[in-house]
Order: sequence, then structure tokens, then C-alpha cells
Amino acid sequence: MLRISGLSVHLGRRAVIGGLDLAALPGAVTVILGPNGSGKSTLIRAATGELPYTGSITLAGEEIRAAPAWRLAARRGVLEQATQVAFPFTVAEIVRLGLQSGLAAGREGLVMQALAEVGMADTAARPFHELSGGQQARVHLARVRAQVWEAVDAEGPRWLFLDEPVAALDIAHQLAVMRIMRDFADAGGGVVAVMHDLNLSAMIADRMVLLSEGRIIAEGPPDAVISDGPLSRAYGCALRVGQVPVSGPWLLPQAARI
Ligand SMILES: Nc1ncnc2c1ncn2[C@@H]1O[C@H](COP(=O)(O)OP(=O)(O)OP(=O)(O)O)[C@@H](O)[C@H]1O
Ligand SMILES: [Mg+2]
Repeated sequence: MLRISGLSVHLGRRAVIGGLDLAALPGAVTVILGPNGSGKSTLIRAATGELPYTGSITLAGEEIRAAPAWRLAARRGVLEQATQVAFPFTVAEIVRLGLQSGLAAGREGLVMQALAEVGMADTAARPFHELSGGQQARVHLARVRAQVWEAVDAEGPRWLFLDEPVAALDIAHQLAVMRIMRDFADAGGGVVAVMHDLNLSAMIADRMVLLSEGRIIAEGPPDAVISDGPLSRAYGCALRVGQVPVSGPWLLPQAARI
């Protein structure tokens, strides 16, 4: 379980997250929502050991700030919101970085498996920089998957922390990546994903957490969070939620014209 209690994160002089409590279970997809600047990426970065924090964040009972980097790398993969690649790597070399940072070194076959999973196997030998933005995003996801391929290992559940994994993708690849998230959770792993698309979030989330100004203002199953009041308050615009018979809540901006 990911357990966060009394979490505060300061960046510069600003308290970006103040006194946040949250629990996320393996076997489930937890989606973090909230407006730009509400602290979603900061929460992910703190939970993955990339930012100093006060309070407590534990993964399987181990305090993140005290965990050695190699153990964190074995337990969880992190897809950052933006990743700079400074060297002229090929696509396969980018994915291999995931193998090297996890404990999967030597399992070379995972590079092609992970690329195939995101539909990028035929680009393995191409220079990464020649890919489109969405294609690059899919390769970065393949890198993270190569790092934590099995959802559960001898130590227990493993975790995917994904900051806007579908933001740059076309609809078919959004659905394909959501399938990867679902399969990982169904296999017993934990998935914590930041998303902006409220309707796609409602399709994939077992649990949602709505942030505003570094605090949780609503959490629970999609039906509890995708509702007019909390969303309109969080985003500062009028939003109305309807129902789609098969898939549940569906949201439309209320304004007649933009
Ligand atoms: N290095 C930094 N120094 C000072 N403030 C920062 C720093 N990084 C982020 N912030 C501030 O922290 C707040 C939260 O940023 P964060 O990146 O967590 O937002 P977010 O919810 O992920 O937004 P988005 O949807 O735009 O990705 C923002 O107001 C941002 O300006
Ligand atoms: Mg962000």
C-alpha cells in the first residue's frame, strides 16, 4: 500500500502541498486530478523519492525518504510529465535505460516486449529524436514498463507512477495505454496516474483524488468525484455531469459557447 500522511512539500518558499493524507492500494488504478498548478506532479515526485518532504510517505511500509535508490527502482517505475533526452539515443537504447535502472538487467528481450506493448517495436533502431511527441511519450512509457515489467514479484506488488501518461496521445493509443494500466492493476500492481481528461479518467479510475491548491477536495470512486460541485469548485468553471448508460459519469462543459 502507498500511505501518505501529513505530507507537506515546499518548493522555493511556497508550500505547494500542505498536510495531505492519502492511501492507494495495489490492484487498483488511482487517478490524481486537479487544475494546472494544483500540486499533482509535486505529489508524484514526492511519492517517488524525487523531492524532499515532511510528514510520511510509505510504500509497503518503507519510508520513501529512507529507502535506497536501488530498492525504489526495483519497486516502482516513474513516468515524468516531461523527460529531457540529452544524448542521441536510439529508441531501443531509451527503453534499455529502464532495464538498467530496475533489477531486470540481462533481460534484453524485455526491450522489444515493452516496445511492442506500446506499438513501437518497428521503431527500435530509429533515433529517438526523430519520433513525434506522442511517439516519444509511448517510448518513455515502454522504458518505465521495462523497469517494472511484472506487476508482482517475490517482494510483493510493484508500482507505476505515471504523470499524464495519455496527454500527448491519439484516442487509440490513449485507450491502449489505459489498457496497460488496467492490466497492471488487475495483475496485482499499483497504478497512480495523473490525468487531465476527466472522461477518460472516469473510465479507468477505481479511485480518484481531486487536488486544489495542494489539498484534496474530493476523493473516492469516479461517481463520487466526477460530480458538478467538486469539479466546478476545483476548476473554477461551470461543469455539468451526465450519465452514459454503459460507462458511467460523463462530463460536458456547461458553457453554451466558448
Ligand atoms: N521548482 C519550483 N519552485 C517553486 N515553485 C514550483 C516549482 N515547481 C513547481 N512549483 C509550483 O508548484 C505548484 C504545483 O506545481 P505542479 O507541477 O505540482 O502542478 P501540477 O498540478 O502538476 O500542474 P500541471 O497540471 O500544470 O502539470 C505550481 O504553482 C508551481 O508553480
Ligand atoms: Mg503536472
